[in-house]
Amino acid sequence: MKPVDPTAVTDIAVRADADWLQAHWMPYTGNREFKANPRLMVEADGAYYIDAEGRRIFDGLSGLWCTGLGHRRPELIEAVSRQMKTLDFMPPFQFGHPQSFALANRMQSFLPEGLGHVFFTGSGSEAADTSLKMARAYWRAKGKASKTRFIGREKGYHGVNFGGISVGGIVGNRKLFGQGVETDHLPHTQLLQNAFSRGMPQQGAELADDLQRLINLHDASNIAAVIVEPFSGSAGVVVPPVGYLQRLREICDQHDILLIFDEVITGFGRSGAWTGAAAFGVTPDILNCAKQITNGVQPLGAVIVKPDIYDTFMHADAPHYLVEFPHGYTYSAHPVACAAALATLDLLEREHAVERVNALAPYLEQKVHALRGCRHVTDIRNFGLAAGFTLAPAPGEPAKRPYEVGMMMWKQGFYVRYANDTVQLAPPFISTEAEIDRLVDALGQAFNALDP
Ligand SMILES: Cc1ncc(COP(=O)(O)O)c(C=O)c1O
Repeated sequence: MKPVDPTAVTDIAVRADADWLQAHWMPYTGNREFKANPRLMVEADGAYYIDAEGRRIFDGLSGLWCTGLGHRRPELIEAVSRQMKTLDFMPPFQFGHPQSFALANRMQSFLPEGLGHVFFTGSGSEAADTSLKMARAYWRAKGKASKTRFIGREKGYHGVNFGGISVGGIVGNRKLFGQGVETDHLPHTQLLQNAFSRGMPQQGAELADDLQRLINLHDASNIAAVIVEPFSGSAGVVVPPVGYLQRLREICDQHDILLIFDEVITGFGRSGAWTGAAAFGVTPDILNCAKQITNGVQPLGAVIVKPDIYDTFMHADAPHYLVEFPHGYTYSAHPVACAAALATLDLLEREHAVERVNALAPYLEQKVHALRGCRHVTDIRNFGLAAGFTLAPAPGEPAKRPYEVGMMMWKQGFYVRYANDTVQLAPPFISTEAEIDRLVDALGQAFNALDP
């Protein structure tokens, strides 16, 4: 590996030898593979990373679905450093700072009507578990303490904490970890007959009726909440059929079950609206977000609830000085993260992120669907500025082909996400059509370079 001048970017020497790499147990990474074949990024610039060999790598997934505005935005650097110079940390329990209140108020302008109160966390996983705990505690405060069961969905991803993996529906994230929280799962909505749908598939709204089956099985008096992503991102952009989310909403309303949208990916531009709720026209009772809220520069998540939920906690029959919801993190509402989020929301608005996504989305759609017929591609899905491809599994090795595609793309100067049997794209909102051309053309070549 040819190193870049490390002093130009960092005071840490760039090394790639096994001894140095062993100490860090990397997350969601094939550590043995990575350490034999390191892929180190040392700098970022707009829609690109610079790797340790000085190559420019197009960021085909906006980091991990979070850097839609591109990297190293001066406005965010300024906001974060200004905040670090004034109030770098303060205890978020029983004391406050203005940034979190400013941010919660600022968020009202683009949240779906009927959602208002914002509880901050440090990540999407923390947002998932927070929302589940809130749902149970809410029903308890309402005198319905038996409502504890959750309903998730196959292929769902809600982060990696125990609540999140319990309601999540990706087997690889669940199978090692034993007993979770009591949960049932709706069927996923990736139907064979919908393969190669552009945007929302036409068939499958009736899959939401499975919720009624689970209610018949457990009784609504035992069910706290349903949690779904408006579209499933980590499962490879699985888009809800027309009418599906509306049907879930109706059934939840009929049976007094809370509906939680996990908008950690769909939130704040990616789906061609500020939220997936707005894009799909369905308002949940609780909306979780993270990632794009700070453009990835600071860890921050949020759980936003309708007033009835907040009010139920506030009106509990207990002395006013007692904590209403005994939950929160050391880094909840971190002042630097809140400053980053305020600056990010300004940028998203000022640079018309939603409009940009809507302008680029049809282009991405026609480009990705032109890859139909590439080797081993069995499905292509898209929504907003996101696309997912399913590859037929190699015999006995279902995750191998996507990995091989990811590696070929990296060699060609593109970062894409590969996971399970899928390859995923989520280009930055600042991408040009020419960049999307290069990304998708390279992907088509990579598919066709796979072994037959
Ligand atoms: C829908 C959804 N929920 C939760 C998470 C977890 O977020 P984090 O990795 O910030 O904990 C993710 C991450 O990809 C996600 O896509």
